Amino acid sequence: MSSGDGKPPLIVAENLTCGYELERERKLLTALTGISLTVDEGEFLVLVGPSGCGKTTFINVVAGIIKPWEGTITFDGKPIVGTGSDRAMVFQDYAILPWRTVEQNVLLPFELRDLNVSKEEAKQRAHKIIDDVGLAGFENSFPHELSGGMKQRVGIARAMVTQPRVLLADEPFGALDAMTREVLQRQLETLVMESKQTVIFITHSIDEAIALGDRIAVISNRPGRIREIVSVDMDRPRLAEGELTGHPDYGKLREHLWDLVKDEALGAKVDAA
Ligand SMILES: Nc1ncnc2c1ncn2[C@@H]1O[C@H](COP(=O)(O)OP(=O)(O)OP(=O)(O)O)[C@@H](O)[C@H]1O
Ligand SMILES: [Mg+2]
Repeated sequence: MSSGDGKPPLIVAENLTCGYELERERKLLTALTGISLTVDEGEFLVLVGPSGCGKTTFINVVAGIIKPWEGTITFDGKPIVGTGSDRAMVFQDYAILPWRTVEQNVLLPFELRDLNVSKEEAKQRAHKIIDDVGLAGFENSFPHELSGGMKQRVGIARAMVTQPRVLLADEPFGALDAMTREVLQRQLETLVMESKQTVIFITHSIDEAIALGDRIAVISNRPGRIREIVSVDMDRPRLAEGELTGHPDYGKLREHLWDLVKDEALGAKVDAA
């Protein structure tokens, strides 16, 4: 599939199978199998599915950390062979460095890779993105002086500062309280709308998936297969007051997704689609 403007998709997985070598047991564990999926430039793809179905594994394949056993995966037309600054990760547990200030954390990617960006420009970009995620004034604060939501904003800022082609977000809001989570969802929605950022986002929350996703891929129990890809045809911003839950399609979509995810969570037998 390609986007309406005729551009080829940014990411194309074809019949992808991958997993892990379990050294102790001396056997292979298949995490994902037969995954065929595309992600268009500017698309927000959400992955949902039961624990252990291979969601994190998939974004690690896109990140270039895990290699496919079978099938192919390409990024911008080329096979993914390793990590790169064009693919940035945001993690559930913040993963920011406690001994560095907010600004120093956000500038870290420029120190880890030679991105051909001057010090001055890196600083400018860092300040802009720190501002965009609502942390202006906290540049010199240390992580222990921040709330969980603020730490997660640092993680998002650090991932966005290199202007990656795709943001890979692994349950970024999973550890936050409901209110903070909603604030960050709104902020991410605004950021993504403005920057047309391509995102692959993992969540266990159906509501979060509907709030943020252009499409939602439901993954089956391990070994993960794509059970169904559901399109969310709702205008943005969706998170303005009452927009989402008051939408005429919301109830049906939520129920459909629930049925799919519940089936998987209960370990129901899945058709080998
Ligand atoms: N480093 C590893 N070594 C061996 N097996 C692994 C490793 N990482 C994950 N697995 C296994 O691969 C399968 C898929 O794991 P993965 O982390 O991708 O699931 P997930 O869908 O992200 O789950 P969750 O929702 O709990 O985060 C699981 O069965 C897990 O035990
Ligand atoms: Mg995971």
